[in-house]
Amino acid sequence: MITKGSNLSKPGQNGGKRYTRYVLVGLVVVLVILTTFSHNFTLKDQRSKLFPGLPGFLGGHKHSKKKNVIFFVSDGMGPASMSMARSFQQHTGGFSYDHMLNLDDFLVGSSRTRSSNSLVTDSAAGATAFSCGLKSYNGAIGMHPDGHPCGTVLEAAKLQGYLTGLVVTTRITDATPASFSAHADLRGMEQLIAQQQLGEYELGRMVDLMIGGGRTNFYPNGVQSSPYGIRGSRTDGRDLIKEAIADGWQYVGDRDSFDALSEGKNVELPLLALLADYDIPFDIDRSDSEYPSLKEEAMTAINALSNASKDSDHGFFLLVEGSRIDHAGHLNDPAAQVREVIAYDETFKAVVEFAKQSDVETVIISTSDHETGGLVTARQVSRNYPEYLWYPEVLEKAQQSCEYLARKLIQERRTVSEQSDVALSKFIKDEIFRSGLGIEDYTADDVEEIKSLIDTPGFLMDKLTDMVSVRAQIGWTTHGHSAVDVNIYAYSNRDNSKTHLLEKLGGNHENTEIGQFMGRYLDLDLEKVTHMIENTTHVQETVSSASSKNPFEYIPEFQRELKA
Ligand SMILES: *[C@@H]1O[C@H](CO)[C@@H](O)[C@H](O)[C@H]1NC(C)=O
Ligand SMILES: *[C@@H]1O[C@H](CO)[C@@H](O)[C@H](O)[C@H]1NC(C)=O
Ligand SMILES: [Zn+2]
Repeated sequence: MITKGSNLSKPGQNGGKRYTRYVLVGLVVVLVILTTFSHNFTLKDQRSKLFPGLPGFLGGHKHSKKKNVIFFVSDGMGPASMSMARSFQQHTGGFSYDHMLNLDDFLVGSSRTRSSNSLVTDSAAGATAFSCGLKSYNGAIGMHPDGHPCGTVLEAAKLQGYLTGLVVTTRITDATPASFSAHADLRGMEQLIAQQQLGEYELGRMVDLMIGGGRTNFYPNGVQSSPYGIRGSRTDGRDLIKEAIADGWQYVGDRDSFDALSEGKNVELPLLALLADYDIPFDIDRSDSEYPSLKEEAMTAINALSNASKDSDHGFFLLVEGSRIDHAGHLNDPAAQVREVIAYDETFKAVVEFAKQSDVETVIISTSDHETGGLVTARQVSRNYPEYLWYPEVLEKAQQSCEYLARKLIQERRTVSEQSDVALSKFIKDEIFRSGLGIEDYTADDVEEIKSLIDTPGFLMDKLTDMVSVRAQIGWTTHGHSAVDVNIYAYSNRDNSKTHLLEKLGGNHENTEIGQFMGRYLDLDLEKVTHMIENTTHVQETVSSASSKNPFEYIPEFQRELKA
């Protein structure tokens, strides 16, 4: 500063030079006094309470630049999922046609989702577009298409002083959260991803809080990951949970210890909460006494992060993923999906309420990485020209996901064995069709078909979901993803950033622009991070079978159970 000041005056103008110096020294003294004053005394806070909205040097200095970003990803949720959930909620709640979902109020635009190597993206490339702000190839976890790791918004935010968190309902090592917190050539390298998420790479620990499932990738192969759990997946024999605890992580592995966090009040960062071996059950199947909801997870994270950043100049960056909207789409299960969307929508509402109460500038963005299932809210079910309708009441009657029911049926067959064909038929009629799917008009052929499919769980689930979808007149075109544009929703608790959000994300955009927006909004230097991690190991020798290219990769737990 002094050097710069000296350069202001030309040589030979000694009087001017001295004068400039006095002015500069004076300014520095005033600045130091004001800064100290506003940092050490609460005058600023009192003043902003007394005169909210009053701008001014003392009033605005410390918190004026403090920001939180909460980024919501509704994995696999296209516009039709919103229509389906809205009509479902209107039907079940007895609301009129103008009743909307919470998200509906916040629609600002839409996103194009293709990846660098395909018109139809996967979740890894989709999330890397958000985390690194660039198009990469399907399967890429925080990787540039050239094959080098790319710095993410989460990493850059952490390095800049923000707290960071990941909240999901699937494995914490799965593509979306991984693309923000790890670098791997392929999404299946979940053992490597888990290591990096705990800080085992060039940057050290970048994540302050993780809540979700996926314990299996933290446990050694052959060791049970919980008293009732399935065995771990790690092939290197390491117990990362034990190591994390030794490194100072607070670990939470079940509902009781999650409750002991008191919605975030008792969180000691860093926090690792792994609440399931693989996925947290679909909301339609979730038992409240065993698993928290997405909303509980998200609010616990937000309270913890906002409390821990209370005295900091920086806020936090949090990813919240409605992970299993995608899974219900892959399974073509409309009854499960509609509840996933509503759980996500309720979480979004709770987080907006938080932002409204917060005195920290907070931006909330929600979008999807892609659509899954090619869902349509209408379906031609016979040769006749279709009626213009679909039936939400069919989805209301269904009480369980096809994933849950298929598992239940397979277990029943195992316990009942072949002792009684009649008993199995009765079980299918009573437990699967009637109480599970809410279907009374099944046929004898349906019962026989279900029996014949017990050994091919994929087809078994197809049969179950088709019985529901046809009756509801809901259509699906694929078990995979589609290229349809997805919605962008956004909120800010400050008018100026609301305007900014609309300018930047209003209308139709590439998915990469959403990542770039977050980077610019938080004033992050992603390129610098990219340079820092240029030597990070991004290859894992053995890729876990759970995520190799099999059509049911999204339910590895199910695969395991069937193989067992
Ligand atoms: C904030 O954190 C402190 C220390 O961990 C804790 O005692 C307090 O209860 C927390 N407050 C809230 C509102 O979460
Ligand atoms: C990466 O490795 C190369 C070769 O050893 C080295 O020159 C470079 O400084 C390393 N980069 C970083 C960021 O450490
Ligand atoms: Zn998917």
